Amino acid sequence: MKYCILFASPRPNGNTATVLRPFAEQLEACGNEVEIISLYGKRIEPCHACRACQKDITRTGCVWNDDLQPIAQKILQSDCIVTATPIYGWYCTAPMKAALDRLIYMMCKFYGETRGPALWEGKAFAILTTCGYPPEKGADVYEMGMKRYCKHCHLRYAGMYAAHDPGYAHPFATEAKLQGARDFALRLHKLCSAQAVAP
Ligand SMILES: Cc1cc2nc3c(=O)[nH]c(=O)nc-3n(C[C@H](O)[C@H](O)[C@H](O)COP(=O)(O)O)c2cc1C
Repeated sequence: MKYCILFASPRPNGNTATVLRPFAEQLEACGNEVEIISLYGKRIEPCHACRACQKDITRTGCVWNDDLQPIAQKILQSDCIVTATPIYGWYCTAPMKAALDRLIYMMCKFYGETRGPALWEGKAFAILTTCGYPPEKGADVYEMGMKRYCKHCHLRYAGMYAAHDPGYAHPFATEAKLQGARDFALRLHKLCSAQAVAP
């Protein structure tokens, strides 16, 4: 199966990258194809609500010819989308938010009067995140937002792995956290492959 991982931390070797590495390695070890796309440094315009994307319900159709265009095509070719982001201000980071806002109606052809399909219908969606508060107080709002996003967008929400950053005085990367990321990859792999073969 193909996994498209959108990575949006400004720190390429920071906490989120630290749990992303074993997560992606485990997915690959299970025989999956994994692509990690870093959103920082890419040009991703915010949605301007022009609704051009709703004119042709067969394609993504956004007027912004920027770096999100090829990413959207990669998402369409994947089975599972993973957002790997630290929590900033109780949500994802800004490049991830810009991408998520654009993707809603590049993919879903039912904004306003338009009555069309969700081009990414049925794909799995998962979260990998790190946060300064304990996850139940740091990542809960983002998870709730993404659960609603998935429901609206006809995606299958497949769960979250959230790792706590205890602050600069303590090491982030414990074996328990790295193993937690591997275990989450295994659960996701089982879920996605089971649903792929289900009638
Ligand atoms: C600008 C900024 C805002 C943050 N906001 C939150 C927050 O709202 N809730 C939280 O739990 N942690 C917050 N944090 C902590 C980060 O989520 C945490 O340190 C994370 O592990 C950083 O990941 P990274 O090393 O991949 O950048 C914030 C950190 C920064 C720099």
